[in-house]
Amino acid sequence: MKAVILYDSRSKGGATEAIIDSIGLKLAESGAYVEKAKCKANADYRFVKEFDIVILGAPVYYFLVSSQLLGSLIHGNLKKNLRRKKIAIFLTCGTPEIMAAVLYLPQLKIHLVRNKILAEKIFASGVNAESEVLDEFVEDVLHEYKKIVTPKVLSAKWTDEAREWLQALPAFMKEKFRIMAEEYADDMGYDEITLEMLSEARNRLGGT
Ligand SMILES: Cc1cc2nc3c(=O)[nH]c(=O)nc-3n(C[C@H](O)[C@H](O)[C@H](O)COP(=O)(O)O)c2cc1C
Repeated sequence: MKAVILYDSRSKGGATEAIIDSIGLKLAESGAYVEKAKCKANADYRFVKEFDIVILGAPVYYFLVSSQLLGSLIHGNLKKNLRRKKIAIFLTCGTPEIMAAVLYLPQLKIHLVRNKILAEKIFASGVNAESEVLDEFVEDVLHEYKKIVTPKVLSAKWTDEAREWLQALPAFMKEKFRIMAEEYADDMGYDEITLEMLSEARNRLGGT
């Protein structure tokens, strides 16, 4: 898995850089290939297409997410090149997390409504590189990514009666109903797909 951390900060060696170095290291330890790049509003972001995960991180200055990252999304071609990308976002600031989630995160998320956001987090500016919150962020990113890319193994067995019912469906409906039934069985923890289970699924999920 290839991940790139796009970040912005006015400070050299400041809180944001410490956080991205720590996140980068943790991702690399999990086997990911990781690169980092500092945002410039007018940069060409076509390179992000090569990456499976894009992590966006920046501090807040004077109530606004740092300008080069926001500028890359608003004026540059970053947003265009993030299409269909799985992303994670973090901010670092001095405002308590609950308030920052309302005041600052939307400034980024409004530009990312079409993306799958694997994880989002606000880190206090003094967060320690060894802090558990950084571990949790990386774990969340990897967990959500794996959930998407790993095909689900659905193990419930069809009884003969239930299979007969499936076979009797019009051809164009069979595959859709097979997947729905197997996912329902998996969600509910059933080992067998029976006529009763199909009826229960129909009642709960709606349909024919
Ligand atoms: C000039 C300046 C303005 C700031 N404005 C805000 C702000 O409006 N809201 C906030 O929560 N934090 C604010 N902070 C705190 C920074 O977001 C926080 O310290 C961040 O971790 C700095 O990241 P850096 O070390 O990479 O620059 C400000 C910090 C500075 C230096």
